[in-house]
Amino acid sequence: MSTVSLGMELLNLYKKKNLAMIFEKIDDGCELSKFHPKGNIPDWLKGQLFLIAPAKWDFDDGFSVNHWLDGSAFMYKFNISKDHVDVMSTVSGYNQCKNVFSRYLSHLVPLELSDNVIGNVYLIDDELYASSETCHVWKIDPKDLKCIKRIDLRSVVSVNLASSHPHICPDGTVFNLAASFMTGLRYHIMKLPPLSETSPKQLKGFERATILTSRSSSQKTTYSYYHSFGVTEHYVLFLEQPLLVNTVKMAASGIKGYCVRDCLEWNPAMKTKFHLIDRATGQDIKTKFQSDAFFCFHHINTYEEDGHVVSDIMAYPNSEVMDKFFLKEVRAGRLNDSCKAIFTRFVLPLKTEGRIGENLVTLQETQATAIKEETGIIFLIPETMGRSGYEMPTINYSMFNTRKYRYMYGCGSFDTGEFAHSLIKLDNVTGEMAVWKETDLMYPSELVYVPRPGSSEEDDGVLLSVVLDVADNSQDFLMVMDAKNFKELARVFVPRSVKLPPSVHGRFRMD
Ligand SMILES: [Fe+2]
Repeated sequence: MSTVSLGMELLNLYKKKNLAMIFEKIDDGCELSKFHPKGNIPDWLKGQLFLIAPAKWDFDDGFSVNHWLDGSAFMYKFNISKDHVDVMSTVSGYNQCKNVFSRYLSHLVPLELSDNVIGNVYLIDDELYASSETCHVWKIDPKDLKCIKRIDLRSVVSVNLASSHPHICPDGTVFNLAASFMTGLRYHIMKLPPLSETSPKQLKGFERATILTSRSSSQKTTYSYYHSFGVTEHYVLFLEQPLLVNTVKMAASGIKGYCVRDCLEWNPAMKTKFHLIDRATGQDIKTKFQSDAFFCFHHINTYEEDGHVVSDIMAYPNSEVMDKFFLKEVRAGRLNDSCKAIFTRFVLPLKTEGRIGENLVTLQETQATAIKEETGIIFLIPETMGRSGYEMPTINYSMFNTRKYRYMYGCGSFDTGEFAHSLIKLDNVTGEMAVWKETDLMYPSELVYVPRPGSSEEDDGVLLSVVLDVADNSQDFLMVMDAKNFKELARVFVPRSVKLPPSVHGRFRMD
C-alpha cells in the first residue's frame, strides 16, 4: 500500500469516527449563554433563529430507536444581534413510543401517533409551532422553548396525519396537506384563512383550520407517503408518489411485529401523479398529469407563468434515501452515496388542447416538456439544473413563495461526493452553482434566508447556518452569510459544553 493510499485510508477512518460523533445522544439542554461574534453581523439582523432536531435515541432502560428521525425532539435557538448572540436549548418531554413501531419512523403510524415533534418549526400568526407528520402540533413559547399547548388535529379537523411543511402564502392564507384513515384512506387540503378574515373571533393559528377539500387515495389499501407539497397563486399541487404506505401490513404490525419501514413499498410502475387543486373552490383540475417515478421530500417552490404551473422539486430516482439515516449506518460512518437529489423542474400546461404526441409547454426558457398521450394523460418530462448531491432547499420564502424566483440554497452535509460538507447557491436561470466549504469535518445545517428589511432584490439578505465541527479542539458555530455573494460575514463560536445536534429545519423571526 502506498503512503498516499494509507493516508487516504486514515483520513476516511477519521471521518467515519467523526460522523458517528454527530449522532451521539444529547441528554441536557442549556441555559441562555452569551457569545460574541467574529466578523460583521449586519445592524438590521435582530431576531431569533429556532431549530429543531432529533437528539436522543438511546434510553436508560436499554430501549433504542433505530432511525435518526425517531429520536426525541430537541429545540434550540440563537438570539441574534450585531454585538452578541445568545444560545439556549431544551430537551423535549414528549412521549416516545417504546414499541415495535418505533423502530423506524414512528411518526407514520396511524395507530399510535407520536407527539415527538422533530419534523419542523414554523410561525403562524407570529406563534411558534413544532410538528412532525402526525396529528400532533406543539405550540412553543419562543422565550424559553417550553411547550405551551398540544394541538390534536383529530379534534380540530379530523385528520390523522399532516405534513410538517405547511405553506404560508403572501396573502396570509395557510395550507397544509393531511391524511385520514377513519373512513377509508383519504387526503385532505387543510386551510387556515388569513387572520384578518377571522379577527372578530380572535381565532389564532390552528384554531381556525378548516378542510378545503378531500379525496380518496387512488389505491385501495395504500396511500402515498408525502413530506411536503406545492402552492401557487391559484392552485395547490399534491404529488401522489409511488412510495406507498401499506395499511393492511400496518394494521397487522402489532401481531406480526413489522416495523413501519416494512410497511413502505416502492412501486415505480405506478408512476408519479400530479394533482392540481383550485385554491378557491377546492375542485380538481380535470387534466391528469403524470411522470416517471421519482421520490421527493421537498418541493422547492411552485408558481404560475403564462398559463403553466412550474413545479421545482428536489427529486431522487427512488426512495432509498428513506433508509439512509438508520443509526447503525451513520454511527458506523456509512452514508449511502447512491441517494442523490437534484433540482428538477416540471412544467404543467394549464391549456391542454392539442394533438396527441404534442409538447404542450410553450414557455421559452425551459427544456421541460408535457406530452399529450392517447389516454388523455399529459406526460411530464422534467429538466434538471445544476448538479446533484444536496438537500434541504431554501428560497427567499417570504418574498418569493408562489412566485417566479431565481435563487435557491441547499445543504450537502450528509451527502457524499462534490457537495459533501458544503452549502450551495443555485441560479436557476444560468444553472451556475456557488459553493461554501471549509473542511471535511464540518457539517453545516440547512440555510435559513433572512431578507434585509426594505429589500426588493431576491438575494439582498443573509443566510444562517449552524456548522457542527467535529475536528479535535474545534468548536461548533453559527455562521452568517451574505446571500448575494455567498460569502461568510460572521461566525459565532459555541463551546463544546453547549451541545448542538444536527437540525432538521429552522425558522428565523425578526424582532
Ligand atoms: Fe422537511
